[in-house]
Amino acid sequence: MCSKMVVQVSLVKLSSGYEMPMLGLGTYARKADPGQFRQAVEWAIDAGYRHIDTASCYKNEEEIGEGIANKIKQGVVNRQDLFVTTKLWNDCHAEAEVIPALKKSLEKLKLDYIDLYLIHWPVSVNVKGEDTGIDHVETWRGMEEAVKLGLTRSIGVSNFNEEQLERLYKSANIKPVVNQFEINPTLTQHKLVNFCKDHSIVPVAYTPLGLISEARPEFIGKDVIKTDPKLGELAQKYGKTQAQIALRYLIQRGIPALPKSFTKTRIEENLNIFDFELTNTEMDIVDSYNIDHRCVPGTVFANCKNYPF
Ligand SMILES: NC(=O)c1ccc[n+]([C@@H]2O[C@H](COP(=O)([O-])OP(=O)(O)OC[C@H]3O[C@@H](n4cnc5c(N)ncnc54)[C@H](OP(=O)(O)O)[C@@H]3O)[C@@H](O)[C@H]2O)c1
Repeated sequence: MCSKMVVQVSLVKLSSGYEMPMLGLGTYARKADPGQFRQAVEWAIDAGYRHIDTASCYKNEEEIGEGIANKIKQGVVNRQDLFVTTKLWNDCHAEAEVIPALKKSLEKLKLDYIDLYLIHWPVSVNVKGEDTGIDHVETWRGMEEAVKLGLTRSIGVSNFNEEQLERLYKSANIKPVVNQFEINPTLTQHKLVNFCKDHSIVPVAYTPLGLISEARPEFIGKDVIKTDPKLGELAQKYGKTQAQIALRYLIQRGIPALPKSFTKTRIEENLNIFDFELTNTEMDIVDSYNIDHRCVPGTVFANCKNYPF
């Protein structure tokens, strides 16, 4: 009989009291074939993922919901075993728009609650993409209402800088439990990570593979990390890949990571990082690749009043 190894994914406690798995499936893709998101979610749940990250602007909530529903129907997981995050898009920042937007996401996801709802960006725009300058402190009141209505268990933000986070934190009745932003070996973000931790806000890493990812050929020349023999040696020492070393580095810094993949073997590979530990010296080696390079600069919002970077 073939018995499948179950990966023990560690958990982090949020200030809301709920626990979040340290590794989740990212689901943003510029291009996807029909069914590809659903398939990725199904492979991920089969592999042991219990945390899935989506957003209304990814236009994939329906497929993500199908994947989840299929796995619940097959008895692989129960709803309460899963941690599902989605995000409020920038054109729904008026307080009164938050609950209707979340209800639309829930309908697409086929869920009656989500685990975490995030303000995707601190900028607000209209459907034409023009800056509407809505204060995210106002948006936050709608987010708090979503918790009170039981539509989401926890609320947080994404792409907020220190100043924005501090102002929101001070005015919030329900504190943001996470800030999701880009963190990886080439963008180590120590200052913002420390600020988050000092405020009991969990820093969550998006684009956790950074320049290691094959999706970033546009950064050729900056991607020395891929060819650097030191990272290769580390990977070889542990019998892991460079991507796994990058993910493990984040986990050891106490940062949950959300790698995206449409490839079954990579989905499995990215979860398989809880059975080894980098030494302090090795953590410093990975950390030394920092070049403060953003893969996701959000330049389309650069002219907005609340552009964070
Ligand atoms: N809040 C925000 O504003 C924001 C912004 C960006 C991203 N995110 C979230 O974070 C998630 C991850 O970020 P991301 O998708 O930009 O970047 P990423 O996860 O760092 O990289 C994804 C790319 O890496 C490839 N890949 C995955 N595993 C690999 C491995 N083991 N070895 C080599 N290549 C591998 C994937 O290819 P294949 O798919 O072909 O396997 C994909 O092209 C997103 O999907 C989304 O959920 C949030």
